[in-house]
Amino acid sequence: MKILVTGGAGFIGSHLCKALLKKGHEVICFDNFSTGSNEKINDIKNQIELIEGDCNTDDLKKAFQNNIDIVFHYAATVGVKRTQEKPMSVFDDIIGIRNILELSYQNKVKKVIFASSSEIYGNPKEMPEKEDGIIDPIQPYAGVKLIGEQLMETYHNKFNLNTCSLRFFNVYGSNQISNAYGFVTGKFINQVLSGKNPTVYGDGSQSRTFTYIDDNINMSLIAMESESTNGQVINIGSDKEISILDLAKKIIKSCNSDLEPVFVERENYDIVDKRCPDTTRMKKLLNYETKFSLNQGLSKTIEWFKSNK
Ligand SMILES: NC(=O)c1ccc[n+]([C@@H]2O[C@H](COP(=O)([O-])OP(=O)(O)OC[C@H]3O[C@@H](n4cnc5c(N)ncnc54)[C@H](O)[C@@H]3O)[C@@H](O)[C@H]2O)c1
Repeated sequence: MKILVTGGAGFIGSHLCKALLKKGHEVICFDNFSTGSNEKINDIKNQIELIEGDCNTDDLKKAFQNNIDIVFHYAATVGVKRTQEKPMSVFDDIIGIRNILELSYQNKVKKVIFASSSEIYGNPKEMPEKEDGIIDPIQPYAGVKLIGEQLMETYHNKFNLNTCSLRFFNVYGSNQISNAYGFVTGKFINQVLSGKNPTVYGDGSQSRTFTYIDDNINMSLIAMESESTNGQVINIGSDKEISILDLAKKIIKSCNSDLEPVFVERENYDIVDKRCPDTTRMKKLLNYETKFSLNQGLSKTIEWFKSNK
């Protein structure tokens, strides 16, 4: 099939492009390179069609000249800190979501898969977090993801376009950005490999679950192939909780280091104490359970960071 991946030069998108190529699909990678980079797709540059453009503009029309079968809409303004600092560019992503849906509908695309986020749950009111349970999209990023999910549902119900929204819970692995805006696993690994004590916000008792990139990609592919996911919103993640302090200690141990975590004041945007998905729907509709333990995923990720330092 001919498959469009927006955000294809990003962390998850680049892994997805590679997995789709392995399955024999034709891949069109569309990205504005705001947080994505050529490095992530260098090894597949001659196997994909790369279009540099912005989803929130008419650039996207170029991608749809190709008779697209499937769209993965994974482009977004991401990162808790960045999305706090640039709420307007987060809101602009609503235009991109609308463009994707309208062009997919007009061009008779078979299915649109949308990368949503666990941030929709805000500071959770119930545990584990259920797709039909209480949500609290307090941040602009979460609000835009919720609007995205609702637009997906509208196009599915009113216009018979197959759509599916995947609520990703913290994904980690190779190719993940690890600068000041970076995600916690990459941040800790970088700090420890550079001989710096990992900085833990608050007392580190806040907990998360972490999903290794290969599990996330396997589920994205199943979501594409399975009809049972049409019109659905599905939590995608591991349900094994770990505190941020224990994550820091685990990374120190996995790097064979004797550094100690240091505690710094929690940022005012870092307000979520717990995050853990209810995975019942994921297991039922995708018939999938995460395969990589945190130890396995971290050791693969650490190896990648060591060879890409
Ligand atoms: N990584 C996670 O843990 C996580 C968790 C929840 C949801 N998500 C969602 O998964 C998707 C991928 O995230 P990621 O972690 O790979 O981030 P990323 O920043 O590595 O990837 C996003 C990509 O989208 C591109 N992009 C951004 N805005 C664009 C636009 N308007 N037009 C074209 N390209 C644009 C960026 O350049 C980048 O390559 C995002 O939608 C994100 O919201 C990720």
